[in-house]
Amino acid sequence: MKRLTHIKAPAPSAPHGFLMTGPMADRNVRRNAMRQFGNTVLALTAGMLLGTTAVQAGGNVEVLHWWTSGGEAKAVGELKNAFEAQGGTWVDSPIAGGGGDAAMTALRARVVAGNPPAAVQLKGPGIQEWAREGALNDVEDVAVAESWDAVLPPVLAGIMKYDGEYVAAPVNIHRVDWLWANPEVLAKVGATMPTTWDEFNATADKLMAAGITPLAHGGQPWQDATVFEVVALGVGGPAFYQKALVELDQEALTSDTMVKVFDQLRKLRGYVDPNFSGRDWNLATAMVMNGEAAFQIMGDWAKGEFLAAGKVPGVDFLCAAAPGNGYILNSDSFTFFKVEGADELEGQKLLASLIMSPGFQETFNLAKGSIPARIDVPMDKFDICAVKSHEDLAAATAANALEPSMAHEMAVPRTVRGEFLDVVTNFFNSDMSSEDAVKALSEGIKRAQG
Ligand code: GAL
Repeated sequence: MKRLTHIKAPAPSAPHGFLMTGPMADRNVRRNAMRQFGNTVLALTAGMLLGTTAVQAGGNVEVLHWWTSGGEAKAVGELKNAFEAQGGTWVDSPIAGGGGDAAMTALRARVVAGNPPAAVQLKGPGIQEWAREGALNDVEDVAVAESWDAVLPPVLAGIMKYDGEYVAAPVNIHRVDWLWANPEVLAKVGATMPTTWDEFNATADKLMAAGITPLAHGGQPWQDATVFEVVALGVGGPAFYQKALVELDQEALTSDTMVKVFDQLRKLRGYVDPNFSGRDWNLATAMVMNGEAAFQIMGDWAKGEFLAAGKVPGVDFLCAAAPGNGYILNSDSFTFFKVEGADELEGQKLLASLIMSPGFQETFNLAKGSIPARIDVPMDKFDICAVKSHEDLAAATAANALEPSMAHEMAVPRTVRGEFLDVVTNFFNSDMSSEDAVKALSEGIKRAQG
């Protein structure tokens, strides 16, 4: 079984044997991973960069995904077009609902009915959970033929494999801890991008006084949890995030720092407009775009929306890392479910090969707002936000500050994530105190761990 490398371990009790535990083991693995990463980069030559890959054409594939917003649809359209251009037949199964909760429910129903889709947008520990249930096909022969190990960061390769074989292919690396802003709106109160939460609050107070909504937000549990984890990283730092949101350490979960995280979340609650409840994330992005609000805290799929609307980063909208140090990682991947039939198996292989081809990784990520999962794709066509993400990812990796997203299913099992989402959403929609939220979180997580 491959072990995770750049991202550190969750609680030893968590059912993810593929993750490392213990600080020593952790340090060694990380050191090796860094060495491997460096060697991989050195081994690649510019000539290899945009080469094509070799899998024969054809096949059918039904693809279940949740990419239905403007930017998302454009990005998945790139995959469909590339697949069809190779002679494949694409059956589209989109399940609306940002963050993928509805899609995961639909997936469970399809598997229980004995009729899984061939390829599913699925990520993180969820891949291992389905693999353990025996629900997946591997695409190891494609991965070996195309040397995936040599071009993926070890952290991602580890997530894509079960029992040492690839059962999924990664399309991208999304960063979660971003702050998006409308520069014209900020100018109205003489503000620039805040670099601390205190600065953020001061700017938000000025905007409120000027009658402008400071924060565009959609009140859905996964969006609340996205904001929560960004604040947790910002207020507590990467070591705190790792302990509390990944390792589920009770001391960190019940610490004063966690109280402070909820205090900042309470502040943010005061900065959203009255109609936030249930709003889709892309409508919140549109509020920033249209000048109805100043900021949004959201992963860089939000940039996909700005770009799809023809907006230019640094001109029409601003991107900055949310206050704090570190990098919250979220990577989308397609996982291959057990289907039978020569056309279906062929379709899975073609899709796997296409997803990992350098040309596709470039085209797709230019539309999606993310950066390529492959480390050998040149960044010269990417915008300033993507270049920043790329640089900050390397810096965070070196500084041991790369953290997996809890809200986006990269860190903990779904049951534990569910507890985070419940508490955070209840807090956001009530006058619960920070202390009570901390208590509820600690108990909920104990419950989920059994
Ligand atoms: C994330 C996913 C992104 C984006 C977002 C909103 O979980 O990784 O690709 O689609 O949800 O739907």
